[in-house]
Formats: sequence, structure tokens, C-alpha cells
Amino acid sequence: MKIHTTVKRIGLAVLSVWLPAMSLSHAASAQTPQGPAVMFEKRCYSCHNIGSGDKKGPDLKGVTDRRTRDWLHEYILAPAAMNRKGDQAAAELFKKFAPEVMPDQALTPEEMDGILNMIQDLTRKGEVYVPPGAKLARAIGPTDAHDGLLLFTGRWKFQNGGPACISCHNFKGAGAFGGGTLGPDLTTANIKYRDPELISILQNPNFPTMNSVFGAHPLNDEEIVKIFALFQNAKQQNPNAQVAATAPIEAKFPLIGAGALILAIVGMNLIWKNRLRGVREEIVRRSRI
Ligand code: HEC
Ligand code: HEC
Repeated sequence: MKIHTTVKRIGLAVLSVWLPAMSLSHAASAQTPQGPAVMFEKRCYSCHNIGSGDKKGPDLKGVTDRRTRDWLHEYILAPAAMNRKGDQAAAELFKKFAPEVMPDQALTPEEMDGILNMIQDLTRKGEVYVPPGAKLARAIGPTDAHDGLLLFTGRWKFQNGGPACISCHNFKGAGAFGGGTLGPDLTTANIKYRDPELISILQNPNFPTMNSVFGAHPLNDEEIVKIFALFQNAKQQNPNAQVAATAPIEAKFPLIGAGALILAIVGMNLIWKNRLRGVREEIVRRSRI
């Protein structure tokens, strides 16, 4: 059938651009030299605070006093391997933070010591880590929340080619059918996370699933302002909302091949394109009046 072939063609075209693009920019980004504060923000901050409480992983305040340097070097490179070999401290951490599992971190010994020295320094001074880059590029304007919804639902495309958030996330008010369920509902994202944390997730989501998709296709500054405005708006409209529990999906994800993941995403985007067409045309019609 005609529609079928078109869908297949779009699928193949998307794949042929995506696959090489993803592997190329991953290789390139691994080599940029960075200071420890920026490195921590990009690689660790989506899961760890220093001095402001546990997140997906433990607060790292005082970790350089709790553990030896050797232990930390070995653990950060390969947490799961350390747990498997029966290390007691690792086993306790895994139990406490299950189902979350810390992904292996590819750091040089110098980068690792840079981060650990920074943690030690902040701990000594009793200071809290604030990410250096987690600021919006400009103030939020009146149309940003609305634009953010258009981006979230895929009505507007992301400039660097990332998939629409709605293919994996639900969001109150984002279309008649609700969103995907691979990721958690984001209606309360701005209640669950403090502003700099949420901005830093949008800039650099160091969660396995999100990173495999957006690592090579980051949101640009304008898109971050608009999506952030959407989340902030949702907080104002649902002041009493309860934060939804995060789906325990992360642990399973490293087991699924990247190829399968990309196929699934491309597939979901195509399905969404069709399911949302009616709703989108309605939005466009209304915005023209
Ligand atoms: C996707 C989330 C995630 C990311 C990203 C992450 N971690 Fe973790 N980290 C965890 C979790 C969860 C634990 C607890 C053990 C477990 O379940 O894996 C942990 C445990 C740790 C511990 C042990 C803490 C203690 O009390 O002994 C250290 C140290 C650590 N992480 C450092 C880092 C550093 C440094 C980075 C960045 C280079 C990083 N982590 C990135 C989730 C993460
Ligand atoms: C391929 C599916 C996928 C897409 C597309 C996606 N996400 Fe996610 N996202 C996830 C998953 C799965 C999680 C849970 C953590 C993990 O395993 O990565 C998550 C977690 C999050 C979180 C943290 C939520 C929490 O409760 O801790 C935020 C915020 C977020 N995503 C925002 C976005 C935004 C904004 C977009 C669009 C720009 C987006 N995501 C697109 C899959 C996706």
C-alpha cells in the first residue's frame, strides 16, 4: 500500500542519517578537555549532588573521607563490576539505590582526581556544588511555554535532530492521546528537580536512555528556554501535584542494543506522527485564526 511504502521510506531515510551521525559525534565529544566543575556537571550531576542531598545516586559530600582514593578510582570506572566481585561497600550502595544502577564512567585518572579534589574541597568548606553552566541563555518570554509544548509534542522539530519528548514521555495537556511511557511523566519535573538541576538535565541528560538519544543531538539554548518554560508553567498550573515515581526502567536499558533502541524510537516517532496529525492540524488551524 502507498502509505506503507512512504512510512518505510521515511524510516530508512531517518536511520541512514541517524546511525552514522550518532557514532561520529560520540567519538568526538569524548576527547574535549574540561575543568572538573564542568565535567561533573556533564557527567555526574544528573544523578549526584554534592551537599544538597541524595538524587538518583548518593550525595557525594564527604565521599573522599568515607572511601579510599583507590576504591573510588576503581568504583567510578566500573561500579557494576565492583558489585559483582563481591565488594561489600558496593553491594550496600547497590541495594540502597536499586533499581538505579550507576553506568560505567570513562574518565582518565587525572579527570577522576580533578573531580575528587573538588568534592573534597567543597566538603571541607561546607559548600554546596552549583553547576557552572546550568543557566538559561535568556529570560523566559510570554510565548515560550506555548512554543515549548510545540517542541515537546514534535509539532516543531529540534534543530539538532533529537526525537520529540512525547515519544517517550507523558505530559499533562500534551495531546489527546497522552505521551509515551518509556520515560517518566514529566508534568511534575519542575517540582521534582530544582531549577539548575532541571536546566542541567535539558542541557545534558546523563541518564542512559536519554543520553544515548540526545548525547549526539543536544537541545540548543533556545529550545532549552522553551522546554524549561513549559515545565515551569506546568508547576504553576498544578501547584499541588504529586511527583510521580520514576519507572524502574534504567537498569534494563544497557542490556538492549543501541540499534534496537534507535529502531524503537524511529518507529515510535512514525507512529506518533500519524496519531498526532489530527491534533496538530487542529493546533495549527487555531493558531492561524
Ligand atoms: C545515571 C546515574 C548516575 C550517574 C550519571 C553517575 N552516578 Fe555515581 N552513582 C549512581 C548510583 C545509583 C550510585 C549508587 C550505587 C548504584 O546503585 O549504582 C552511585 C554511586 C556513586 C559513588 C559511591 C558513593 C558512596 O557513597 O560511596 C560514587 C563515588 C559515584 N557514584 C561517583 C560518580 C561520579 C564521579 C560520576 C560522574 C563521573 C557519577 N557517579 C555518575 C548513579 C550515577
Ligand atoms: C527515547 C526515549 C526518550 C525521549 C525521546 C526523551 N526521554 Fe526523557 N527520559 C527517558 C527515560 C527512559 C528516562 C528515565 C531515565 C533514563 O533511564 O534515562 C527519562 C528521564 C527524563 C527526565 C528526568 C525525569 C525524572 O522523573 O527523573 C527528564 C526531565 C526528561 N527525561 C526530559 C526529556 C525531555 C525534555 C525530552 C525531549 C527533549 C525527553 N526527555 C525525551 C526517555 C526519553
